[in-house]
Amino acid sequence: MEYRHLGKSGIQVSELSFGSWVTFHNQADVNAAVEMMAAAYDAGVNFFDNAEVYAGGKSEEVMGTALKQLNWRRGSYLVSTKIYWGLHENVNERNTLNRKRLIEGINGSLQRLQLEYVDLLYCHRPDKTTPIEETVWAMHNIIEWGKAFYWGTSEWSAAEIVAAIEIAERHHLHKPIVEQPVYNLLSRHRFSSEYERVYKDYGYGTTIWSPLASGLLTGKYNKGIPSGSRGALEGYDWLHDSLTDKSKLAKVQALEPISNELGCTVSQLALAWCLKNPFVSSVITGASRVEQVHENMKASEVAPKLTPEILQRIDQIFEIKKDADDD
Ligand SMILES: NC(=O)c1ccc[n+]([C@@H]2O[C@H](COP(=O)([O-])OP(=O)(O)OC[C@H]3O[C@@H](n4cnc5c(N)ncnc54)[C@H](OP(=O)(O)O)[C@@H]3O)[C@@H](O)[C@H]2O)c1
Repeated sequence: MEYRHLGKSGIQVSELSFGSWVTFHNQADVNAAVEMMAAAYDAGVNFFDNAEVYAGGKSEEVMGTALKQLNWRRGSYLVSTKIYWGLHENVNERNTLNRKRLIEGINGSLQRLQLEYVDLLYCHRPDKTTPIEETVWAMHNIIEWGKAFYWGTSEWSAAEIVAAIEIAERHHLHKPIVEQPVYNLLSRHRFSSEYERVYKDYGYGTTIWSPLASGLLTGKYNKGIPSGSRGALEGYDWLHDSLTDKSKLAKVQALEPISNELGCTVSQLALAWCLKNPFVSSVITGASRVEQVHENMKASEVAPKLTPEILQRIDQIFEIKKDADDD
């Protein structure tokens, strides 16, 4: 496992990390979470991603109990959580980054995670109605109080990120250091175009999500939606259009000869492709069972095999033209 600096900060994250969206509580109980987190940690993963909204707070509870059982030295791993959507249907508590919500939010997350602090705290989405200055001050205070060490953004626009950085610089506050955007073979446009100046000019890091497009890039949906997969879960019907899209599936199938040549699986190839981007600090992997963790962690060994010629062949499959939109 290699470790990469989170942008130009001093902290280093494993290039492959592990997140709990969809899986913890819904597909994985504490025992399964312990097993998967241990497999990831043993492979060198030092960063575990969560969010208050995942499974309505239960995902943090599962991870917190798993961490207690695993009893790792706290300095040896990083935990993140994210705040925005909230847990209660109420004014000031939904879809907001206001000061009250952020501070109450981190307190609730720390309780559920049974931790004194998280290493990274993300604003899970931008809030168009709260002044960015209010959010920056609240995140700064949370860091000053020792409840988080670094903060970041998720799916903010480049302009919003730059605004937050500049407010923080103006007032000598803790700046956001990392964005958490979607990035995979099928969704790369925003990462590769809009954010580029933010990485280059501000040294912003990235922890990227859904590297397998919710499993589509494993090849498991090539013949329909298999039972036991994310696509078959109750409440995830909104993924069906994408998981059964003929043009996307044809592209996934076209990866098979390349993965065969390289002696790896399609999943490992798709993850390794993400690792090749130098602006990616960490690829957050997801898994519903431990075998997937074992398979996915080997993507680190596949990445060095992706020569410029292989990358070009992959680009041809995904018909990447400059300035083209995703999908
Ligand atoms: N900031 C954000 O807004 C945001 C949004 C989404 C995710 N995230 C973060 O990013 C993490 C990863 O996202 P993701 O879970 O969508 O990642 P993903 O890699 O796109 O999908 C992971 C899912 O694909 C299937 N899978 C994974 N490896 C497999 C393998 N080797 N063979 C077969 N199936 C495999 C599993 O689902 P099944 O076995 O159930 O099919 C697994 O849960 C999340 O846990 C979360 O921490 C952040």
